[in-house]
Amino acid sequence: MTDLLPLVHEAQADFAQAVTPADLENAKARYLGKAGRITDQLKGLAALPIDEKKARGALINEAKQQIEAALNARRDALALTELLAQLKSESLDVSLPGRRRGNGVGLHPISRARERIEAIFTSMGFDVADGPEIETDWYSFTALNNPENHPARSMQDTFYVDVKDEHGAWLNLRPHTSPMQVRYAKAHALKYAGQAAMPDIRVIVPGRTYRVDNDATHSPMFHQVEGLWIGENVSFKDLKVMYLGFIRAFFETDDVKLRFRPSYFPFTEPSAEIDIMFESGPLQGKWLEVSGSGQVHPQVVRNMGLDAERYIGFAFGSGIDRLAMLRYGVTDLRLFFEGDLRFLAQFT
Ligand code: DAH
Repeated sequence: MTDLLPLVHEAQADFAQAVTPADLENAKARYLGKAGRITDQLKGLAALPIDEKKARGALINEAKQQIEAALNARRDALALTELLAQLKSESLDVSLPGRRRGNGVGLHPISRARERIEAIFTSMGFDVADGPEIETDWYSFTALNNPENHPARSMQDTFYVDVKDEHGAWLNLRPHTSPMQVRYAKAHALKYAGQAAMPDIRVIVPGRTYRVDNDATHSPMFHQVEGLWIGENVSFKDLKVMYLGFIRAFFETDDVKLRFRPSYFPFTEPSAEIDIMFESGPLQGKWLEVSGSGQVHPQVVRNMGLDAERYIGFAFGSGIDRLAMLRYGVTDLRLFFEGDLRFLAQFT
């Protein structure tokens, strides 16, 4: 095979120069491909006399095997180089600090306000309850003495969910926390049914509420806190004393006055808006509306499963966002819900 030796060496050198798998395949084609030089040699056999064919054929095959061996060795070497490069590029530098999820800057101002409200009312003997944000028509309206097709329903223009309840009425995103008055009182009444006396119902319900409203002082999602106190001997006087105590504790000042302004809600009779006025500080001298309130309507007391001749009480529904805006001096409600850390970090 002496005359084939240079060809084998040439192929080996060629393969050694290939640095990518593609280079190597091109080099392979030059020797072993259809028009490659080994292939040419094999084609040349046809012209030889029969007795020379065999010996020459064996020599060419030997050269071919050597070239294939060189090719495979180079293939393995390139694959190894590639693997090492990949391992290097994908390796973890364990000495680098890890990438963390950013920590929040602290409690959201609305959560802070809610926690203050809960602490104050808990100290006055109120329970804190939570209720569903997707409500039935009955609890959001009808049970609260707000019958179907009554114009007062438009006071709480609301969002509906594309699902109906068992009476065929659309479910809604609750427009106020008031439905929980009836839910909570019903459960309480049931718990003490058949007993001679029932402890007073005293509960607050803070939570998310929804309405079709969007401007500097209204957001489609906002927060209310409902309050309910029902017993055999609860009067408007208790509401006034309790609410004044709450406002003083919430704003940490005694320099504040309350005003009950006659109003209308279907679920209370009489009804009042509660306004507050600071007698000092930056908000001094302005009446600010913070809550609706009233004496729970006898029909609502009955819907709670209670004897309206025996039980009486009051309810209120205050805007948590409004209270938080006043406490922290925020003038645009939307800031609370934009999630801008530069704003939120100021409250920690
Ligand atoms: N639910 C009323 C609203 O969202 C607020 C309200 C008024 C709640 C009077 C009450 C109440 O409990 O007695 O506008």
